[in-house]
Amino acid sequence: MQTVPLDKKRHQRKRFDCGVEALNNYLKLMANQHASKDNSRTYVLEDPKDESIIAGFYTLAMVTVDLSVLPEHLQNRHYSNHTAGLIARLAVNKRYTKRGIGSWLLVDALKKLLVASDMVGFPMVVVDAKEGVSSFYEQFGFQPFYEEKERLFMPVADIRTSFGNGIKNIH
Ligand SMILES: CC(C)(COP(=O)(O)OP(=O)(O)OC[C@H]1O[C@@H](n2cnc3c(N)ncnc32)[C@H](O)[C@@H]1OP(=O)(O)O)[C@@H](O)C(=O)NCCC(=O)NCCS
Repeated sequence: MQTVPLDKKRHQRKRFDCGVEALNNYLKLMANQHASKDNSRTYVLEDPKDESIIAGFYTLAMVTVDLSVLPEHLQNRHYSNHTAGLIARLAVNKRYTKRGIGSWLLVDALKKLLVASDMVGFPMVVVDAKEGVSSFYEQFGFQPFYEEKERLFMPVADIRTSFGNGIKNIH
């Protein structure tokens, strides 16, 4: 399996339904525009039987982090760098859930962000989880920011270690 950049000519964005209208609409209306302006990148996993069908997608971007909401040892370690890689969205087509695709997409997104961090250097990955989905990310080692239960983070150093140790569900 591999993800490819969203291509509006090839992928049927309107047929994607993850059950969350805001995420469906983002894919349909915004993802391509944001990518064309270099604001973010959206990657899709195609159905192997029909490459026009999107089984799942995620969107990556950069974000600035308020260091005061991090644990103290991380504030001290990263006082000079407020940037983080952001998994802004991640969703699986309802027809394809509960088969490990969400986990696979998350690992794929983390691999890309690790490569990006190796090249330009940023200390943190942040994810915006929709209500009730935080536990999906917590199984992989993400922790919620103080007072922000739906925004979670993981230090890049921990991600690197996890890959070294074979992160859960690596495919
Ligand atoms: C959340 C979502 C990405 C999970 O995708 P999926 O392909 O079904 O996930 P997986 O099959 O890889 O599930 C992996 C684990 O996550 C757990 N999980 C699945 N959906 C979950 C959810 N909504 N909340 C918490 N945990 C969840 C599963 O129980 C599973 O654990 P297990 O292996 O111990 O059984 C998918 O249901 C989805 O797109 N939901 C709508 C959009 C959304 O909420 N996106 C995430 C936030 S932006």
